[in-house]
Amino acid sequence: MTDTSVTLSGIKLDNPVIPASGTFGFGYEFADYYDINILGSISFKGTTKEPRFGNPTPRIAEIPSGLINSVGLQNPGVEKVISSEIPRLSKYFKKPLIANISGFSVDEYVCCAKMLDKVNQVGILEINISCPNVHGGGMSFGTCPESAAEVTRAVKSAVSKPVYIKLSPNVTDITKIARAVQDAGADGISMINTLLGMRIDLKTKKPVIANTKGGMSGPCLLPLALRMVYEVYEAVDIPIIGMGGISCAKDVIEMMLAGASAVQIGAANLVNPYVCRDIIENLPDVMRQYGIQNLSQITGGAHNGK
Ligand code: SIN
Repeated sequence: MTDTSVTLSGIKLDNPVIPASGTFGFGYEFADYYDINILGSISFKGTTKEPRFGNPTPRIAEIPSGLINSVGLQNPGVEKVISSEIPRLSKYFKKPLIANISGFSVDEYVCCAKMLDKVNQVGILEINISCPNVHGGGMSFGTCPESAAEVTRAVKSAVSKPVYIKLSPNVTDITKIARAVQDAGADGISMINTLLGMRIDLKTKKPVIANTKGGMSGPCLLPLALRMVYEVYEAVDIPIIGMGGISCAKDVIEMMLAGASAVQIGAANLVNPYVCRDIIENLPDVMRQYGIQNLSQITGGAHNGK
């Protein structure tokens, strides 16, 4: 008998598989395809205080083994998310949610976090300080230990639910940011967001993406994400939700051995809307294949002690 359950800050998930913010809408869109209540949790689209139309198009560029996006945090704003999107999702998904929050100032992060903290179904607040596609907010908070700590401290002092900080790989040493948010009170870390990249159209000789640059994701990112999760696991004592290039059950196990307590699936949802369901169905077989009975016990297994 295999046990796929894992625990994040006292919240038990049936399995570690969570669709990543921005690749699964507000979740109910996928209920036409399969029973989304099988998912461990759902991290819904990054939510800001005001509604956002997002960046000009084109916002997407294909790359070998993935894509570059510059969506620009398109979302209906926190009030609408609470009054319409979450109630719609609740009809299909009955488990604790991960609320992904973005902002352009510390006050905005705090405001959204306070509002979403009061929503019963929200289990974890995931503070995204790593969006590479907006100016004057997003990633600018996540690339400096002091500002990462400032956002963390301010949100933590305003809410009661666990706060996970979503980190950017676009830094020289991610362990410095991880330690800073842990010291500021973070309950956990989500990592990694996308890696900055660009493409140039040979016909126009201009960038493919209207915003010039965007965030790369896809299977090519898995080794980079594994390396960073491995490093951060050694640097902090709080749980890590690992993501970056995961597209099958074996990748989930690899990410957990590197140090993740649960995982998020991002770009793979855009290629195959059934991928999270397929991973959940395949996990027990892959666990048996590698002699794993209890998934929660393999976190950090690739390390030689800590
Ligand atoms: C976006 O909406 O631009 C993507 C969000 C993110 O990468 O954090």
